[in-house]
Amino acid sequence: MKWIPCSGRSRRDTKNKKNSSSRKKNGVIVNQKPLDQTKPTSERLRDDYPFHVRGGSKNGGSGSITAQTFTFRELATATKHFRSECLLGEGGFGRVYKGYMESTNQVVAIKQLNRNGLQGNREFLVEVLMLSLLHHPNLVNLIGYCADGDQRLLVYEYMPLGSLEDHLLEISPGKKRLDWNTRMKIAAGAAKGLEHLHDKASPPVIYRDLKCSNILLGEGYHPKLSDFGLAKLGPVGDNTHVSTRVMGTYGYCAPEYAMTGQLTLKSDVYSFGVVLLEIITGRKAIDNSKATAEQNLVAWVRDP
Ligand SMILES: Nc1ncnc2c1ncn2[C@@H]1O[C@H](COP(=O)(O)OP(=O)(O)OP(=O)(O)O)[C@@H](O)[C@H]1O
Ligand SMILES: [Mg+2]
Repeated sequence: MKWIPCSGRSRRDTKNKKNSSSRKKNGVIVNQKPLDQTKPTSERLRDDYPFHVRGGSKNGGSGSITAQTFTFRELATATKHFRSECLLGEGGFGRVYKGYMESTNQVVAIKQLNRNGLQGNREFLVEVLMLSLLHHPNLVNLIGYCADGDQRLLVYEYMPLGSLEDHLLEISPGKKRLDWNTRMKIAAGAAKGLEHLHDKASPPVIYRDLKCSNILLGEGYHPKLSDFGLAKLGPVGDNTHVSTRVMGTYGYCAPEYAMTGQLTLKSDVYSFGVVLLEIITGRKAIDNSKATAEQNLVAWVRDP
Protein backbone atom coordinates (compact mmCIF):
# COMPACT_ATOMS: atom_id res chain seq x y z
CA MET A 1 0.00 0.00 0.00
CA LYS A 2 1.38 3.44 -0.90
CA TRP A 3 1.95 6.20 1.62
CA ILE A 4 -0.54 8.99 0.89
CA PRO A 5 -1.92 12.05 2.59
CA CYS A 6 -5.13 10.93 4.34
CA SER A 7 -6.92 13.62 2.36
CA GLY A 8 -6.56 11.31 -0.62
CA ARG A 9 -3.77 12.97 -2.62
CA SER A 10 -0.58 11.09 -3.34
CA ARG A 11 2.11 11.69 -0.74
CA ARG A 12 4.36 12.55 -3.66
CA ASP A 13 2.00 15.43 -4.53
CA THR A 14 4.30 18.26 -5.57
CA LYS A 15 1.68 20.99 -5.34
CA ASN A 16 2.45 21.76 -1.71
CA LYS A 17 6.20 21.94 -2.02
CA LYS A 18 6.72 25.69 -1.71
CA ASN A 19 9.12 26.58 1.09
CA SER A 20 6.56 28.42 3.20
CA SER A 21 6.48 27.87 6.94
CA SER A 22 2.72 27.56 7.45
CA ARG A 23 -0.30 28.00 5.21
CA LYS A 24 -3.80 26.64 4.66
CA LYS A 25 -4.77 24.48 1.69
CA ASN A 26 -8.04 22.65 1.17
CA GLY A 27 -8.95 23.25 4.81
CA VAL A 28 -5.87 21.41 6.01
CA ILE A 29 -3.09 23.14 7.92
CA VAL A 30 0.11 22.74 5.94
CA ASN A 31 3.13 23.10 8.17
CA GLN A 32 6.42 22.50 6.46
CA LYS A 33 9.55 24.31 7.60
CA PRO A 34 12.11 24.79 4.85
CA LEU A 35 15.28 22.77 5.33
CA ASP A 36 18.40 24.70 6.25
CA GLN A 37 20.77 23.24 3.66
CA THR A 38 23.74 25.22 4.99
CA LYS A 39 24.10 23.07 8.12
CA PRO A 40 25.34 19.49 8.29
CA THR A 41 22.60 16.84 8.41
CA SER A 42 23.01 15.88 12.06
CA GLU A 43 22.98 19.52 13.24
CA ARG A 44 19.83 20.29 11.21
CA LEU A 45 18.14 17.27 12.69
CA ARG A 46 19.01 18.14 16.27
CA ASP A 47 17.82 21.73 15.81
CA ASP A 48 14.46 20.49 14.55
CA TYR A 49 13.95 17.61 16.95
CA PRO A 50 15.57 18.26 20.33
CA PHE A 51 14.42 15.36 22.46
CA HIS A 52 15.66 12.64 24.74
CA VAL A 53 14.39 9.31 26.00
CA ARG A 54 13.58 8.57 29.61
CA GLY A 55 15.31 5.58 31.12
CA GLY A 56 18.97 6.24 30.31
CA SER A 57 21.08 5.70 27.28
CA LYS A 58 20.77 1.91 27.31
CA ASN A 59 17.14 2.27 26.38
CA GLY A 60 18.01 4.79 23.74
CA GLY A 61 18.41 8.48 23.90
CA SER A 62 21.91 9.58 24.74
CA GLY A 63 21.15 12.35 22.26
CA SER A 64 23.98 11.39 19.91
CA ILE A 65 23.45 10.32 16.31
CA THR A 66 24.73 6.77 16.16
CA ALA A 67 24.03 5.96 12.50
CA GLN A 68 27.06 5.46 10.25
CA THR A 69 27.47 7.21 6.92
CA PHE A 70 28.07 5.17 3.78
CA THR A 71 29.17 6.13 0.30
CA PHE A 72 26.90 5.35 -2.65
CA ARG A 73 29.62 3.08 -4.02
CA GLU A 74 29.61 0.97 -0.81
CA LEU A 75 25.85 0.49 -1.00
CA ALA A 76 25.91 -0.24 -4.74
CA THR A 77 28.50 -2.95 -4.07
CA ALA A 78 26.43 -4.35 -1.19
CA THR A 79 23.37 -4.78 -3.47
CA LYS A 80 25.25 -5.98 -6.57
CA HIS A 81 24.44 -2.59 -8.15
CA PHE A 82 20.80 -2.73 -7.07
CA ARG A 83 20.18 -5.89 -9.01
CA SER A 84 16.53 -6.99 -9.24
CA GLU A 85 17.30 -10.32 -7.54
CA CYS A 86 18.17 -8.29 -4.40
CA LEU A 87 14.85 -6.38 -4.43
CA LEU A 88 12.81 -7.00 -1.26
CA GLY A 89 9.90 -4.69 -1.96
CA GLU A 90 8.81 -1.22 -2.93
CA GLY A 91 6.83 1.44 -1.07
CA GLY A 92 5.95 5.11 -1.55
CA PHE A 93 9.46 6.14 -0.49
CA GLY A 94 11.40 3.97 -2.90
CA ARG A 95 12.78 0.46 -3.40
CA VAL A 96 14.19 -1.76 -0.65
CA TYR A 97 17.08 -4.13 -1.45
CA LYS A 98 18.77 -6.87 0.50
CA GLY A 99 22.49 -6.20 0.77
CA TYR A 100 25.66 -7.55 2.30
CA MET A 101 28.15 -5.17 3.92
CA GLU A 102 31.54 -6.77 3.60
CA SER A 103 33.22 -4.32 5.99
CA THR A 104 31.02 -5.39 8.91
CA ASN A 105 30.01 -8.86 7.66
CA GLN A 106 26.36 -7.84 8.00
CA VAL A 107 23.23 -8.58 5.97
CA VAL A 108 21.21 -5.38 5.68
CA ALA A 109 18.12 -3.88 4.02
CA ILE A 110 18.83 -0.78 1.94
CA LYS A 111 16.06 1.63 1.04
CA GLN A 112 16.79 3.87 -1.94
CA LEU A 113 14.73 7.06 -1.86
CA ASN A 114 13.08 8.10 -5.10
CA ARG A 115 14.90 11.21 -6.24
CA ASN A 116 11.98 13.59 -6.41
CA GLY A 117 12.67 16.54 -4.24
CA LEU A 118 12.30 18.30 -0.95
CA GLN A 119 9.43 16.40 0.65
CA GLY A 120 11.31 13.10 0.33
CA ASN A 121 14.45 14.69 1.68
CA ARG A 122 12.62 15.92 4.75
CA GLU A 123 11.23 12.42 5.40
CA PHE A 124 14.77 11.07 5.00
CA LEU A 125 16.13 13.50 7.60
CA VAL A 126 13.32 12.78 10.05
CA GLU A 127 13.85 9.04 9.66
CA VAL A 128 17.61 9.33 10.33
CA LEU A 129 17.04 11.50 13.38
CA MET A 130 14.24 9.46 14.90
CA LEU A 131 15.90 6.09 14.46
CA SER A 132 19.27 7.40 15.58
CA LEU A 133 17.88 8.61 18.88
CA LEU A 134 15.19 6.04 19.59
CA HIS A 135 16.34 2.52 20.42
CA HIS A 136 14.04 -0.25 21.59
CA PRO A 137 13.72 -3.98 20.88
CA ASN A 138 10.45 -3.25 19.02
CA LEU A 139 11.79 -0.45 16.79
CA VAL A 140 13.80 -1.30 13.70
CA ASN A 141 17.51 -0.52 13.97
CA LEU A 142 18.97 2.01 11.55
CA ILE A 143 22.56 1.05 10.78
CA GLY A 144 23.37 4.06 8.68
CA TYR A 145 22.57 6.27 5.73
CA CYS A 146 24.01 7.69 2.54
CA ALA A 147 23.54 11.27 1.37
CA ASP A 148 26.00 11.33 -1.56
CA GLY A 149 25.06 14.08 -4.04
CA ASP A 150 21.34 13.72 -4.70
CA GLN A 151 21.31 10.05 -3.60
CA ARG A 152 19.46 9.32 -0.34
CA LEU A 153 19.62 5.79 1.06
CA LEU A 154 18.85 4.26 4.45
CA VAL A 155 20.54 1.12 5.76
CA TYR A 156 18.54 -0.97 8.24
CA GLU A 157 19.02 -4.25 10.01
CA TYR A 158 17.63 -7.00 7.76
CA MET A 159 14.32 -8.40 9.00
CA PRO A 160 14.26 -11.98 7.63
CA LEU A 161 10.50 -12.56 7.78
CA GLY A 162 9.51 -9.37 5.93
CA SER A 163 6.44 -7.38 6.91
CA LEU A 164 3.30 -8.43 8.79
CA GLU A 165 1.37 -7.58 5.62
CA ASP A 166 3.22 -10.38 3.78
CA HIS A 167 2.04 -12.93 6.37
CA LEU A 168 -1.41 -11.65 7.14
CA LEU A 169 -2.95 -10.03 4.13
CA GLU A 170 -1.10 -11.03 1.01
CA ILE A 171 -0.16 -14.62 1.71
CA SER A 172 1.64 -16.29 -1.15
CA PRO A 173 0.38 -19.78 -2.05
CA GLY A 174 1.79 -22.50 0.19
CA LYS A 175 2.63 -20.07 3.02
CA LYS A 176 1.35 -21.04 6.48
CA ARG A 177 -1.25 -18.78 8.11
CA LEU A 178 -0.17 -17.14 11.36
CA ASP A 179 -1.49 -18.95 14.42
CA TRP A 180 -3.36 -17.06 17.13
CA ASN A 181 -0.45 -16.94 19.63
CA THR A 182 1.89 -15.52 17.01
CA ARG A 183 -0.70 -12.89 16.08
CA MET A 184 -1.01 -11.83 19.72
CA LYS A 185 2.77 -11.78 20.16
CA ILE A 186 3.08 -9.47 17.16
CA ALA A 187 0.30 -7.19 18.45
CA ALA A 188 1.90 -7.00 21.92
CA GLY A 189 5.35 -6.23 20.47
CA ALA A 190 3.98 -3.49 18.21
CA ALA A 191 2.17 -2.01 21.24
CA LYS A 192 5.44 -1.98 23.20
CA GLY A 193 7.21 -0.15 20.37
CA LEU A 194 4.40 2.42 20.31
CA GLU A 195 4.47 2.75 24.10
CA HIS A 196 8.16 3.57 23.88
CA LEU A 197 7.47 6.40 21.41
CA HIS A 198 4.53 7.76 23.41
CA ASP A 199 5.60 7.28 27.02
CA LYS A 200 9.39 7.05 27.13
CA ALA A 201 10.51 9.64 24.58
CA SER A 202 10.32 13.22 25.81
CA PRO A 203 8.67 15.05 24.16
CA PRO A 204 6.64 12.09 22.95
CA VAL A 205 6.85 10.97 19.33
CA ILE A 206 3.72 10.52 17.22
CA TYR A 207 4.47 7.77 14.70
CA ARG A 208 1.70 8.61 12.17
CA ASP A 209 2.25 5.58 9.96
CA LEU A 210 1.27 2.49 11.91
CA LYS A 211 0.09 -0.22 9.49
CA CYS A 212 0.82 -3.87 8.74
CA SER A 213 3.44 -3.14 6.07
CA ASN A 214 5.43 -1.10 8.60
CA ILE A 215 5.56 -3.89 11.19
CA LEU A 216 8.63 -5.89 10.21
CA LEU A 217 9.28 -9.38 11.53
CA GLY A 218 12.53 -10.88 12.77
CA GLU A 219 13.38 -14.44 13.80
CA GLY A 220 10.54 -16.04 15.75
CA TYR A 221 8.13 -13.36 14.41
CA HIS A 222 9.62 -10.72 16.69
CA PRO A 223 7.94 -7.47 15.51
CA LYS A 224 9.60 -4.08 15.01
CA LEU A 225 8.05 -0.80 13.87
CA SER A 226 9.68 0.75 10.80
CA ASP A 227 9.35 3.89 8.62
CA PHE A 228 9.64 7.01 10.74
CA GLY A 229 9.69 9.58 7.94
CA LEU A 230 6.26 10.89 8.93
CA ALA A 231 6.90 10.90 12.69
CA LYS A 232 6.24 14.13 14.59
CA LEU A 233 7.08 15.35 18.04
CA GLY A 234 3.94 15.33 20.18
CA PRO A 235 2.39 18.27 22.02
CA VAL A 236 4.26 19.76 24.97
CA GLY A 237 3.08 21.80 27.95
CA ASP A 238 -0.62 22.62 27.95
CA ASN A 239 -1.03 21.88 24.25
CA THR A 240 -3.41 19.02 23.46
CA HIS A 241 -2.35 18.50 19.85
CA VAL A 242 0.04 19.54 17.09
CA SER A 243 -1.39 21.03 13.92
CA THR A 244 0.07 19.53 10.80
CA ARG A 245 -0.55 18.58 7.21
CA VAL A 246 -2.68 15.44 7.16
CA MET A 247 -0.43 12.55 6.14
CA GLY A 248 -0.66 8.83 6.64
CA THR A 249 -2.30 5.89 4.93
CA TYR A 250 -5.98 5.79 3.99
CA GLY A 251 -7.84 3.33 6.21
CA TYR A 252 -5.47 3.74 9.18
CA CYS A 253 -5.84 7.48 9.74
CA ALA A 254 -7.92 8.63 12.73
CA PRO A 255 -11.04 10.42 11.38
CA GLU A 256 -10.71 13.46 13.68
CA TYR A 257 -7.08 13.96 12.54
CA ALA A 258 -8.04 13.52 8.88
CA MET A 259 -10.80 16.15 9.29
CA THR A 260 -8.97 18.76 11.38
CA GLY A 261 -5.22 18.20 10.91
CA GLN A 262 -4.96 18.15 14.73
CA LEU A 263 -2.58 15.35 15.57
CA THR A 264 -2.47 13.68 19.00
CA LEU A 265 -0.97 10.50 20.42
CA LYS A 266 -4.46 9.05 20.13
CA SER A 267 -4.18 9.24 16.32
CA ASP A 268 -1.59 6.43 16.62
CA VAL A 269 -3.83 4.52 19.02
CA TYR A 270 -6.60 4.60 16.39
CA SER A 271 -4.19 3.19 13.77
CA PHE A 272 -3.12 0.52 16.25
CA GLY A 273 -6.80 -0.41 16.64
CA VAL A 274 -7.11 -0.83 12.86
CA VAL A 275 -3.98 -3.03 12.80
CA LEU A 276 -5.40 -5.10 15.67
CA LEU A 277 -8.62 -5.60 13.68
CA GLU A 278 -6.56 -6.73 10.69
CA ILE A 279 -4.60 -9.14 12.90
CA ILE A 280 -7.79 -10.59 14.37
CA THR A 281 -9.86 -10.81 11.18
CA GLY A 282 -7.15 -11.33 8.53
CA ARG A 283 -8.92 -8.64 6.46
CA LYS A 284 -7.38 -5.49 4.95
CA ALA A 285 -8.19 -2.03 6.38
CA ILE A 286 -9.43 -1.08 2.90
CA ASP A 287 -10.27 -3.80 0.40
CA ASN A 288 -11.81 -2.59 -2.84
CA SER A 289 -12.24 -6.14 -4.11
CA LYS A 290 -15.02 -6.74 -1.56
CA ALA A 291 -18.69 -5.69 -1.71
CA THR A 292 -19.17 -1.98 -0.92
CA ALA A 293 -20.42 -2.61 2.65
CA GLU A 294 -17.33 -4.69 3.43
CA GLN A 295 -14.63 -2.50 1.87
CA ASN A 296 -13.83 -0.48 4.99
CA LEU A 297 -12.84 -2.81 7.83
CA VAL A 298 -13.71 -0.41 10.68
CA ALA A 299 -17.18 0.30 9.23
CA TRP A 300 -17.76 -3.41 8.62
CA VAL A 301 -16.74 -4.37 12.16
CA ARG A 302 -19.08 -1.71 13.60
CA ASP A 303 -22.00 -2.77 11.46
CA PRO A 304 -21.31 -6.19 9.88
N1 LIG B 1 14.52 -3.82 7.21
C1 LIG B 1 13.90 -4.61 6.33
N2 LIG B 1 14.18 -5.93 6.28
C2 LIG B 1 13.54 -6.74 5.39
N3 LIG B 1 12.59 -6.33 4.53
C3 LIG B 1 12.27 -5.01 4.53
C4 LIG B 1 12.90 -4.09 5.44
N4 LIG B 1 12.36 -2.87 5.21
C5 LIG B 1 11.44 -3.02 4.25
N5 LIG B 1 11.39 -4.29 3.82
C6 LIG B 1 10.52 -4.86 2.76
O1 LIG B 1 10.33 -3.88 1.76
C7 LIG B 1 8.94 -3.65 1.56
C8 LIG B 1 8.74 -2.19 1.21
O2 LIG B 1 8.96 -1.41 2.36
P1 LIG B 1 8.63 0.13 2.41
O3 LIG B 1 8.74 0.55 3.82
O4 LIG B 1 9.45 0.86 1.41
O5 LIG B 1 7.15 0.25 1.88
P2 LIG B 1 5.76 -0.08 2.56
O6 LIG B 1 5.88 0.02 4.04
O7 LIG B 1 5.27 -1.38 1.99
O8 LIG B 1 4.87 1.06 2.02
P3 LIG B 1 4.85 2.60 2.43
O9 LIG B 1 5.91 3.27 1.63
O10 LIG B 1 3.49 3.00 2.09
O11 LIG B 1 5.15 2.70 3.91
C9 LIG B 1 8.27 -4.07 2.88
O12 LIG B 1 6.95 -4.45 2.69
C10 LIG B 1 9.16 -5.22 3.32
O13 LIG B 1 8.70 -6.41 2.74
MG1 LIG C 1 7.24 0.61 5.25
